[in-house]
Amino acid sequence: MSVSIRPARADDLTAMQACNLQNLPENYTMRYYLYHAMTWPSLSYVAEDAKGRIVGYVLAKMEEDIAPGDEPHGHLTSISVLRSYRRLGLAKKLMLQSQDAMASIYKASYVSLHVRKSNRAALSLYRDSLGFTVQGIEKKYYADGEDAYAMRLSLKQ
Ligand SMILES: CC(C)(COP(=O)(O)OP(=O)(O)OC[C@H]1O[C@@H](n2cnc3c(N)ncnc32)[C@H](O)[C@@H]1OP(=O)(O)O)[C@@H](O)C(=O)NCCC(=O)NCCS
Repeated sequence: MSVSIRPARADDLTAMQACNLQNLPENYTMRYYLYHAMTWPSLSYVAEDAKGRIVGYVLAKMEEDIAPGDEPHGHLTSISVLRSYRRLGLAKKLMLQSQDAMASIYKASYVSLHVRKSNRAALSLYRDSLGFTVQGIEKKYYADGEDAYAMRLSLKQ
């Protein structure tokens, strides 16, 4: 399967939203996708197959509310890959592209994210494959009451 990774464009947002709806219970308004794409155009990427179908995406941003003493950092809003395209390394590539841009363009010192405690695939991607570490647990973070791991990866060389 030939799939390429490229920066997300405004005309990808509907397909990214469709991919999100198929894969995750955490959904966002089109306005929120647009806000990401317009504000941080180099932080969100898509995986596109040979027919031009969007089969995966990463939606990311720079954190806007930085606590006193904290450093500028990126935040992963959402990532998903269609079922038939999983375990091909696409999510890892999408994450690495976004992380590189956070560090090189926005001088982010780290990237943060939340993940459901039960999401074994995503946890393994973040922890085992990308090197994120768990910073803590946020109780009842998700709308259905599930706890989240708050995770972080340093982007300093
Ligand atoms: C999590 C998700 C994005 C991973 O996408 P993917 O393209 O299949 O991931 P990759 O192929 O890049 O996997 C990279 C590594 O992550 C880990 N990983 C990915 N899927 C895994 C699984 N099902 N079980 C265990 N480890 C897994 C492995 O370490 C893998 O490396 P390997 O294939 O060499 O063993 C995908 O399963 C998905 O879309 N899930 C539903 C949406 C979701 O949960 N998003 C995350 C919300 S926080």
